[in-house]
Amino acid sequence: MQRIELRGLILAGGFATRLRPLSCSKPKLLFPIVGVPLVESMARWLSSGGVDKIILAVNHLSDRLKIEVGHRVGGVTVAFSVEEMPLGTAGPIRLAANLLSKDDPFFAINGDIVSNIDIRGMLALHEEKKADATIALVSVLDPSPYGSVTTDSDGIVRKFEEKSAVPSATGRVNAGVYVLSHGVVGSIPVGRCVSLERDVFPKLVRNGRMRAWIHDGFWYDIGRVSEYVRANRELLAKQELKAGEPDERQNGRQIIWPTYLGTKARLGVGAKVGPLTILSDNVTLGDGAIVRNSIVFEETTIGEKTIVEDAVIGERVVIGRGSRIGSGSIIAGQLSIPPGSVVSPNSVIFC
Ligand code: GDD
Ligand code: MG
Repeated sequence: MQRIELRGLILAGGFATRLRPLSCSKPKLLFPIVGVPLVESMARWLSSGGVDKIILAVNHLSDRLKIEVGHRVGGVTVAFSVEEMPLGTAGPIRLAANLLSKDDPFFAINGDIVSNIDIRGMLALHEEKKADATIALVSVLDPSPYGSVTTDSDGIVRKFEEKSAVPSATGRVNAGVYVLSHGVVGSIPVGRCVSLERDVFPKLVRNGRMRAWIHDGFWYDIGRVSEYVRANRELLAKQELKAGEPDERQNGRQIIWPTYLGTKARLGVGAKVGPLTILSDNVTLGDGAIVRNSIVFEETTIGEKTIVEDAVIGERVVIGRGSRIGSGSIIAGQLSIPPGSVVSPNSVIFC
């Protein structure tokens, strides 16, 4: 049978506590990844693999997401499935059953993944092997925050253990990207919190119905601030340097690459940006301001002669002139920092 639509359900509920305070005012799906909102970056990736519709399974800050994402993003159409209470990682799939085709497999994806996993390849394997579930695996140095997975020589998953104290010998973990056959949806109980990782996968594994797809390209779970920063820095560094312009000077402004400047980013006279800095759309740097190794969300203003190093600054923040933001600091969105402030290294400033 010819497939009419390939759908991807993105699990994007929960409170993103590990991204606080940045997530207090901004849903995780709107966090910029080298200037592009995560939801758009995920949609582009899924669309390049043939997905044409995504379903955003949300609860917290869902109204905001509906307004900002709209009906189309990154080449795919968007539908929302809103939970009244958090249903875990499997419950939202059951809730969205009517939005998924009854005949075709679909993708379910954690809503904090930045990757280039081969969507077409995964789907082809799933169909060829007639699996109930196909799970993408990645190798990480420390498997403990993830789901540890052991496979046999045929690529059948033999063990799945969420946040195991004794990880698999291979260090391979669940990448949070799955192809699921429609039958799996019917096996999830209705209207209550159910976990894919703790309730659904162990049963599929016991029955030998889960296949592994090994991914060796890039992969990040940006659900912790440290990983969010690492993803941005590494992806920024991968972007091509401007040919012959490692260092751009005009009117005393200095941009040291790799640096990303969003649209309408404005640099005052003598301002210095970079390296490894991301200024999102509509960020303004006052005269003589210096920003290095930092991520600045949209519409933030950094005052004259203020110095920001190794920091993450939320959206619509105003930092007064002559301030110093210490290395490792995180400043929540929509805050106002008075002129002349000294923020000690590794400070976290909440709203
Ligand atoms: N809609 C909805 N409702 N989504 C939820 C809910 C909920 O109640 N709870 C969590 N989610 C979403 C989160 O927003 C996230 O995108 C995804 O489900 C996974 O939850 P995380 O809280 O990010 O889990 P994790 O990172 O600790 O572990 C998961 O991801 C790892 C890979 O990044 C697990 O799937 C691990 O096995 C996996 O290795
Ligand atoms: Mg996560």
